[in-house]
Amino acid sequence: MPIKTIIEPFRIKSVEPLRWTTRQQREQLLRAAHYNMFLLPAGDVLIDLLTDSGTGAMSTHQWAAIMEGDESYAGSPSFDRFRNSIQDIFGYKHVIPTHQGRAAERILFGVLAKRGDFVPNNTHFDTTRANVEFTGAKAVDLLTEAGRQPSVSAPFKGNMDVAALEALIQTHGRERVPCVMLTVTNNSGGGQPVSMENVRAVSALCRRHSIPLYFDACRFAENAWFIKLREKGYENKTPKEIAQEMFSLGDGCTMSAKKDGMANIGGFLCTNDDKLAQQEKDLLILTEGYPTYGGLAGRDLEAIAVGIQEALAEDYLRYRIASTAYLGNHIAQAGVPIVQPPGGHAIYLDARAFLSHIPAEQFPGVALCCELYLEGGVRSVEIGSLMFAGAAQMDLVRLAIPRRVYTQSHVDYLVEVIVEVWKNREKMRGMRLTYEAPFLRHFTAHLAPVD
Ligand code: F0G
Repeated sequence: MPIKTIIEPFRIKSVEPLRWTTRQQREQLLRAAHYNMFLLPAGDVLIDLLTDSGTGAMSTHQWAAIMEGDESYAGSPSFDRFRNSIQDIFGYKHVIPTHQGRAAERILFGVLAKRGDFVPNNTHFDTTRANVEFTGAKAVDLLTEAGRQPSVSAPFKGNMDVAALEALIQTHGRERVPCVMLTVTNNSGGGQPVSMENVRAVSALCRRHSIPLYFDACRFAENAWFIKLREKGYENKTPKEIAQEMFSLGDGCTMSAKKDGMANIGGFLCTNDDKLAQQEKDLLILTEGYPTYGGLAGRDLEAIAVGIQEALAEDYLRYRIASTAYLGNHIAQAGVPIVQPPGGHAIYLDARAFLSHIPAEQFPGVALCCELYLEGGVRSVEIGSLMFAGAAQMDLVRLAIPRRVYTQSHVDYLVEVIVEVWKNREKMRGMRLTYEAPFLRHFTAHLAPVD
């Protein structure tokens, strides 16, 4: 019989000890952090699922490449390796390094968008939205209907609504839509993938109207793997071939290398447009650095050049997606409401369904984050009424899985903690705000349990 168990496709050479706390200590720590996960010291967290961004483990090949880093200010060979590795996958003419994803967004929209414009996306990540709107343009989310329903399971819930895109272009005119963007996978919508068919349809529409199509490519390798698993005609293609085909349908991308770049810092901006590239490099010099390093050290460029290829390895992707699905499926079997199906980089708990006795004004997502920490030292993040205030359509708790960091027994532990919290859900209370900043309040807010 063929062996079915999917194992971590690596062995461990360097370990980082976990630090344990007692429930009593966690109660005190939580109070001192004003019940806000961002204010907890990371050293007091046992399993940290706050984000999958920059939190991954690098490979021996990446660490070896770091030693080859050339720190020349201009014309570093590390940049050549970085550009060549990215072009091999993405195929775009210009590759501009940045210190992380949002710097690429700031530069792209800085040259492309202006007041009165509309920028459609399947769903903007929060920094992407903020960078679009900082230029005075309007960020519009055009997710399909299925993508907006947490409990509905469909293979490509990250897809853009093509008819809605067509209508937006008709209403406002091509000249007010400087670009269209597709986020792969769709982080804010549950880590759900976009199908090649959808990319092709969006691309054809954009080309018909001469509008450039950009990818927010943070989790492109995970998206490619979902296409291989779920889309007809891609079963026998490699993740790299799938990624290459997808990027060939667009004109450029922004990328945070802290996700599928497998690095702890870094990002880049790509375009095929010579004129735009020149303007982008001018802006880059102003804030990030010279175009052959863009705010990164030569060694960071090397780590990304290697990491971005490793993210496409089939044994890695098979384990990565299976491990996330294992967590999602096991808690769902116990009755825990999650965004279905499990995403690529994260599981999203539906806090409104989980804590149906706590109204949205009392931040059910925050209450759930606190309880997961109290129960098992697990740190998660609220994506809901605290983060988006009145605009929140859902209250979700994201459990983002760092890449190559936690093992199967850590995942089994997580299942046990979440199911235990689920069993005791009726005892949980809502939260109230005691301090909030005027914008991006979730990072610094203070809260307390309601009496
Ligand atoms: N786009 C998407 C889809 C993202 O998920 C992120 C970051 C960015 C852009 C910005 O990249 O952080 O390198 O500036 N997401 C992280 C998260 C922070 O936790 O989901 P960055």
